[in-house]
Amino acid sequence: MALSLLCPLVATFLFMQTLSADTSCTECFVQSRAAYYPNSQENGTDVGACGFGSFGATVNGGDVSAASNNLYRNGIGCGACYQVRCINNAYCSDNGVSVVITDQGSSDNTNFILSQRAFGGMALNTDTAAALLALGVVDIQYKRVSCNYPNKNITVEIDESSSNPHFLAFVIWFQQGSRDITAVQLCETQNFVCKLLDRNHGAVWTANSPPSGPLSLRMLFSAEEGEEAWVVPANNIPQDWKAGQTYDLGIQVDQ
Ligand SMILES: *[C@@H]1O[C@H](CO)[C@@H](O)[C@H](O)[C@H]1NC(C)=O
Ligand SMILES: *[C@@H]1O[C@H](CO)[C@@H](O)[C@H](O)[C@H]1NC(C)=O
Repeated sequence: MALSLLCPLVATFLFMQTLSADTSCTECFVQSRAAYYPNSQENGTDVGACGFGSFGATVNGGDVSAASNNLYRNGIGCGACYQVRCINNAYCSDNGVSVVITDQGSSDNTNFILSQRAFGGMALNTDTAAALLALGVVDIQYKRVSCNYPNKNITVEIDESSSNPHFLAFVIWFQQGSRDITAVQLCETQNFVCKLLDRNHGAVWTANSPPSGPLSLRMLFSAEEGEEAWVVPANNIPQDWKAGQTYDLGIQVDQ
């Protein structure tokens, strides 16, 4: 990854400053470019490639983005959070904006096509936001950060394409932290027969002929910090699950 190019320098700098032994890459920003959807609403989008549905339109107050292929990673990158900041001192704030990936796309060597709201959000104030928007594409730095959804549990939304009991498709909302969900299993709760699901597209997991009865969903979290781990929620998806419904899984993760 491009991250590794920057890290030795930053780590050395931190070491000299603080004599800290922390050589992790969390302070490393990657240089890139960002554009925005020219005709976007202030809000996000409910038609992004991730398939998040209404979550995509409202999550993070509309500070969302499409990601280039190397960040989108065939949908594994859906729901990941990034801090994105532009670098022109006259226009840009130090912190920039935190966005959630809800879509796939790039143009003109960008890693991010931000919502218009998020793009303007990198600016110092509304005047410089207008100047920034007028540029269209800007140089940025980015790094992955933890997603944070206060007072929300991980929630499953049953996709409209689903039809109980033949076909189940769903997306996972409100996953905190900075790890990826790399696999999902559905287990029936009587005999614990489990079925590994397919990532259909974006963040959408599907099962033909899903197990019957209430369903226990297990998610494999990638090893960003610590070890790869299966997470088993407190709540099941009820037997009578319906397209369009959401089910609170009764857990949250912090990493
Ligand atoms: C943006 O989202 C907010 C909150 O869901 C909603 O009240 C508002 O009408 C939306 N704005 C647009 C332009 O869709
Ligand atoms: C999250 O799950 C916990 C444990 O199941 C539950 O007590 C809590 O009410 C849930 N929080 C929300 C916001 O639904």
